Amino acid sequence: MSKAQVVHELGPPNAMTWQEWPVPDPGPGEVRIRHAAIGVNFADTYHRGGVPHPWPVPPCPVVVGFEGVGIVEGVGPRVTEFDSGDRVAYGIPPLGSYAEVRNYPADKLVHLPDGLDDRQVAALMMKGMTAHYLLHRTYAVQPGDTILVHAAAGGMGLILCQWAKALGATVVGTVSTEKKAEAARAAGCHYPVVRSRQSFAEVVGDVTDGEGAAVVYDAIGRDTLRQSLDSLRPMGVCAAYGHVSGPPDPVDIIRDLGQRGSLFITRPAIMHYVARRSDLERTAQALFKAIADGILDANVNYKYALRDAVKAHEALESGTTIGATVLIP
Ligand SMILES: NC(=O)c1ccc[n+]([C@@H]2O[C@H](COP(=O)([O-])OP(=O)(O)OC[C@H]3O[C@@H](n4cnc5c(N)ncnc54)[C@H](OP(=O)(O)O)[C@@H]3O)[C@@H](O)[C@H]2O)c1
Repeated sequence: MSKAQVVHELGPPNAMTWQEWPVPDPGPGEVRIRHAAIGVNFADTYHRGGVPHPWPVPPCPVVVGFEGVGIVEGVGPRVTEFDSGDRVAYGIPPLGSYAEVRNYPADKLVHLPDGLDDRQVAALMMKGMTAHYLLHRTYAVQPGDTILVHAAAGGMGLILCQWAKALGATVVGTVSTEKKAEAARAAGCHYPVVRSRQSFAEVVGDVTDGEGAAVVYDAIGRDTLRQSLDSLRPMGVCAAYGHVSGPPDPVDIIRDLGQRGSLFITRPAIMHYVARRSDLERTAQALFKAIADGILDANVNYKYALRDAVKAHEALESGTTIGATVLIP
């Protein structure tokens, strides 16, 4: 028996109940993991709250979360790559990480290299692999590109700023407060913009001599998407990879994309980019190298006991956090 944060009916943070949660023996292709640290992501709040998401939430009762690090405690039939005692990490569904112990498919799991810290990796597995595919595959950032990153001091934002700077990009990043502007600047954001004080589209225009950004990474959604499109250069790419302020209004491909300059828009999601085992391994190895090389720090600024996950969700949804949050079983 393990304890977990169980959601019996989708709703606000206190829809999660800390209770006993049975974990059967691992089935074929599954590994049983005892978590050492669990990453908290905004997507967990969508799943818990019933907000639409590319990965639909299974029927209740359900345990949310899909980022974690731990030790293998047992393996099911047909698992050959993992053994009891292995340090492992994952950052894609199926859901169920807000638990002391869980079963997880071996084909979505990776070994954790020695020397990497459990909490760093728990905070970076999902967000770091996301930053990798956004910066290398959704749009391949080139040295000299100007890029726009929203919520630049958030968990994802600080990672994007660090990695994009290392790639040689000029980063314009939006935030809600001066304190967050400082955090974004420290992570490599060249031009932090407090959204309530300045138009970020104008700042991008100034920085690029009127041309516009090569790409915008917009996970705010409803409140920012239109102005994000206004910030792009012709043929620029809008990666609408989240919607913390709510799902954006529908996009008209003629007016919104065509008339603004043959823009591209996509709603990318991590599970599609690492669905193939070869992509998962390549992306995880690139992430581990970036951590080992000192390019990325997860900025784990909030650590909660797993039993206090409700508080972690309240804080994240308040929009006041800087950097990443992990849960410790
Ligand atoms: N598609 C993918 O593959 C993928 C993978 C990982 C994450 N994501 C998305 O990335 C986004 C960020 O995730 P995260 O876990 O790193 O969260 P986070 O950025 O640490 O927290 C969200 C931030 O969004 C900003 N925000 C703006 N309007 C908000 C509102 N109405 N309510 C709450 N926050 C608001 C706040 O920053 P300011 O105060 O500076 O505005 C807040 O700190 C989420 O949308 C998530 O779904 C997508």
